[in-house]
Amino acid sequence: MKVLLSFDQIHARILEMGEQITADYSGREPHLVGVLKGACPFMTDLAQAIDLPLTLDYIAVSSYGRATKSTGEVKLVKDLDQGLEGRDLLVIEDIVDTGLTLNYLTSLLGARGPRSLKVVTLLSKPARRLVSVHVDYVGFTIEDEFVVGYGLDYNERYRNLKDIVVYGA
Ligand code: IMP
Ligand code: MG
Repeated sequence: MKVLLSFDQIHARILEMGEQITADYSGREPHLVGVLKGACPFMTDLAQAIDLPLTLDYIAVSSYGRATKSTGEVKLVKDLDQGLEGRDLLVIEDIVDTGLTLNYLTSLLGARGPRSLKVVTLLSKPARRLVSVHVDYVGFTIEDEFVVGYGLDYNERYRNLKDIVVYGA
């Protein structure tokens, strides 16, 4: 499959994002919430690139089932372990596509009393938005192509690829 973003390109960008977040959150202790399972590699590498004390938690939602097209439904599959009251929350996503998942997550988590809430995504596909969502940190903006690797799956496969590749290409 065609490599869209190599591991080296991804990693270089994550270092930049980590520096930016480190500067923006100076003197604070961000709480990173990763969206399972796709955001796992990104969450791990990004957390290491942030030079601040921080805490991690994970949430799981399902939106896609087994297909590449969105059903429009978002369901909470695994909730957080920790509360968000007074925390500087950073929601960490692998990809923002239609925006439905992020829209659901920001209203769910925003209602739990965080001091601040910002969104970080490795990839964004703006051409496919169905709802407008605000994203504070974007790794790469990509075309309307289905991609896998570096955490991203097709039917749960290919998450272990080092690079991000175009599915089927
Ligand atoms: P949204 O709700 O449509 O924004 O979709 C977000 C979720 O859809 C992501 O967290 C991914 O799990 C999945 N997704 C969207 N586009 C892709 C893709 O190109 N490859 C793999 N998963 C994708
Ligand atoms: Mg998925």
